[in-house]
Amino acid sequence: MRLLTTVEDTHAFGRRLASVLRAGDLVVLTGPLGAGKTVLAKGIGAGLGVAGEVTSPTFVIARVHRADPHRGGHLTMVHVDAYRLGAVPDPRAEIDDLDLDAAMDDSVTLVEWGEGLVEQLADAHLRVHLQRRDDDAREVSLTPVGGDWRQRTTSLCPAESGS
Ligand SMILES: Nc1ncnc2c1ncn2[C@@H]1O[C@H](COP(=O)(O)OP(=O)(O)OP(=O)(O)O)[C@@H](O)[C@H]1O
Ligand SMILES: [Mg+2]
Repeated sequence: MRLLTTVEDTHAFGRRLASVLRAGDLVVLTGPLGAGKTVLAKGIGAGLGVAGEVTSPTFVIARVHRADPHRGGHLTMVHVDAYRLGAVPDPRAEIDDLDLDAAMDDSVTLVEWGEGLVEQLADAHLRVHLQRRDDDAREVSLTPVGGDWRQRTTSLCPAESGS
């Protein structure tokens, strides 16, 4: 667990996390409403050097941010917010319809509210959990699941249990 006291700390943590990311990665962002998942996604987008503002998509479920060479970018980032899928009868079918796996090999895919829905899209994933504390600081914890996520993330944050 690592403490992220301010918005800037969360953004900076996202930028650091971006430095270990590569094409094909799946990152599942978890935590309750307002925990800071989108702030973290903004930091990751900044670190990757992608085009376009990373925001909470209101009317879309997934947004593609191409690499912006002027920002030093070389990886596409796909930002998914599955929150609205919570209410549909078959969220898994909706995720399938997005055809995320088609783009995944060439991109970094970040998913908010996708726990239990998107893990099967990749052999391995990193779960990033954010929790708001009473004093408004955030706690972030990383759970590496499969692949070489553990090795790649130990320097960022002490790992929780995972495989
Ligand atoms: N340390 C912090 N890290 C991140 N956000 C913080 C922090 N302190 C305060 N905030 C505020 O908390 C809010 C986090 O909002 P954000 O949209 O990132 O949450 P979210 O987890 O994506 O929520 P949602 O589930 O609605 O998508 C922002 O308004 C941000 O300014
Ligand atoms: Mg969000």
